[in-house]
Amino acid sequence: MTQDALTGWDDETTAEAYAAFAHTFPMYSASSRDLVARARLTDSHVIVDLCGGTGATAEAILALAPPNAQVISLDNAPSMQRIGRRTLNDPRLSWVTAPAEGLAEHAPAHGVDAVVCNSAIWKTDVPAVFAAVRRVLRPGGRFVFNVGGGFAGVTHPDAPTLPTSPSLGTLIERIAARDYGTPPASANGVPRLPLTAVTSHLTAAGLTLVETDVTAQHVTMAERRAWLSIPVFARPDSGLSYEQQMAILQEAYAQTCPDDVTVTSWLVVVAQLEEPQA
Ligand SMILES: C[S@@+](CC[C@H](N)C(=O)[O-])C[C@H]1O[C@@H](n2cnc3c(N)ncnc32)[C@H](O)[C@@H]1O
Repeated sequence: MTQDALTGWDDETTAEAYAAFAHTFPMYSASSRDLVARARLTDSHVIVDLCGGTGATAEAILALAPPNAQVISLDNAPSMQRIGRRTLNDPRLSWVTAPAEGLAEHAPAHGVDAVVCNSAIWKTDVPAVFAAVRRVLRPGGRFVFNVGGGFAGVTHPDAPTLPTSPSLGTLIERIAARDYGTPPASANGVPRLPLTAVTSHLTAAGLTLVETDVTAQHVTMAERRAWLSIPVFARPDSGLSYEQQMAILQEAYAQTCPDDVTVTSWLVVVAQLEEPQA
């Protein structure tokens, strides 16, 4: 299991670093806004921010939700939610500390207009989460989420097929191998959650695929370095201390140009609970 698993998130240092990153750089706010726009919240009453963390997605939801809507941000990491509770003050928003798989115990059965899940679904027990979403969505309600390109096995056309210079991740791997003998990450493994698996899990849960998209985020080396400094994302992901990881990152970053841009791909999925035929 990598550090980027359930327990890695309930940590004050990670939570503070994550919130600072999400506030400073556009990665999580931009992907949240993209998902929320696809959820069609205009007439929504109840909206769930699934795996909501420190609240970047909740913020995007609140910007588009009607004034009388109720927004439930659910996450199983109290440390992440503590920051959200402290920084996001909106009477429409409530925080639920619980696993995504248990969503049905915390939202009205068939009473939710939209469930939005940014940058987290592949960390969960996907069939269990889809079944829980099915139980809370109202007919016609939307379930919108994204899957990191590496986990989905997708690449946006903007991503160069042959990069001219090594990525920060590759440089880190080389330095870690040289200095600590760490093995290379399993970069070309089988994607954990490709669209075929998403589709079959949705069908099994009784949800219908409405739309898919592959989107791109253009990320500078400086932003990438800041992201890799969040303890839960630091690499190599096991065996070294955080100080060792940061020393490697520093050396790797020095070999790059801060303004160089890399492309991060996302698979975006919109699903729906079909309305009964008249
Ligand atoms: C990358 S953060 C995304 C947070 C937020 N959606 C955003 O865009 O900033 C991933 C979050 O998923 C949460 N998470 C992972 N697995 C979970 C699960 N099974 N149930 C509830 N939350 C989970 C973590 O605690 C973490 O807060």
